[in-house]
Amino acid sequence: MAKKKGNELQFDRIGYWSEVKLDIIREYCSAYSRILTNQRGLSHVYVDAFSGAGEHVRKDTSELVPGSPLNALHVDPPFDRYVLIDLDGAKVDHLQQQVAKTGRADRVQILHANCNQVLLEKVLPSIRYESFQRGLVVLDPYGLHLDWQVLATAGKSGVVEVFLNFPIMDMNRNALWRNPDAVGPDAQARMTRFWGDESWRSGAYKVQRGLFGEVPEKLDNNAVVDAFRKRLRDAAGFSFVHEPMPMRNEQGAVVYYLFFAGPNRTGAKIVSDIFRKHANRTS
Ligand SMILES: C[S@@+](CC[C@H](N)C(=O)[O-])C[C@H]1O[C@@H](n2cnc3c(N)ncnc32)[C@H](O)[C@@H]1O
Repeated sequence: MAKKKGNELQFDRIGYWSEVKLDIIREYCSAYSRILTNQRGLSHVYVDAFSGAGEHVRKDTSELVPGSPLNALHVDPPFDRYVLIDLDGAKVDHLQQQVAKTGRADRVQILHANCNQVLLEKVLPSIRYESFQRGLVVLDPYGLHLDWQVLATAGKSGVVEVFLNFPIMDMNRNALWRNPDAVGPDAQARMTRFWGDESWRSGAYKVQRGLFGEVPEKLDNNAVVDAFRKRLRDAAGFSFVHEPMPMRNEQGAVVYYLFFAGPNRTGAKIVSDIFRKHANRTS
């Protein structure tokens, strides 16, 4: 995670699994923008809600790697509009400088803001079926920083596709403990805000009847992910929610799952091909 010394930006140091994510999203952006550009009368927007500084440092070699907003800015044909959001002022400043170098800054709006607020108040309401708009929204938080309402609003719009970093490691470390009674109220509240209601409890635990009454038993990652996938379909209203791709670190542990959800079969089919291409990548 990027840290600031005073006002100075330190880049995020990323592992290869982040580069797999970056490649997947870049390839999808490219296909999406090509398809939407060919559909006369439609305008398409790319939204990066947790956009970062626009560049990262590769952990093993210390090389600079372009981040998701810069990758999206470089696709041809470009999106009609880009909205890039980050809460960190030093990152926003750096991103601004990188965007200026792309020659496409006139299409870009950079917001130094809490994405949960601006997405709900301004950005998502501006992507409307009636005004022939379509949107691709990338939601890539470090952990449990997303508000479910964002997903629910995107799903119900019928015109927005999302990539979501589902932060299973943060969940398991902070909220989904074997003994749920030991989890603090803050962590429980963050889980509820991300999930949208308290149903994460039944998604992550099953009740076992024992000698001493009912005991909650923690379910595995697959059960948690399946429960959330169902929620994206049934509660947020996305017609197509692809089986998410597990992103693993060098030890093989799943750091997060990459979800794709949208209103069209075509999007899900393209994502299938891209996921398949990058599955089992180890560098
Ligand atoms: C994992 S990084 C994003 C990396 C980027 N998507 C990429 O792949 O190049 C997460 C970013 O979210 C930002 N962030 C955290 N909470 C936020 C919030 N509530 N609203 C907007 N940005 C936030 C952090 O400052 C950080 O830059």
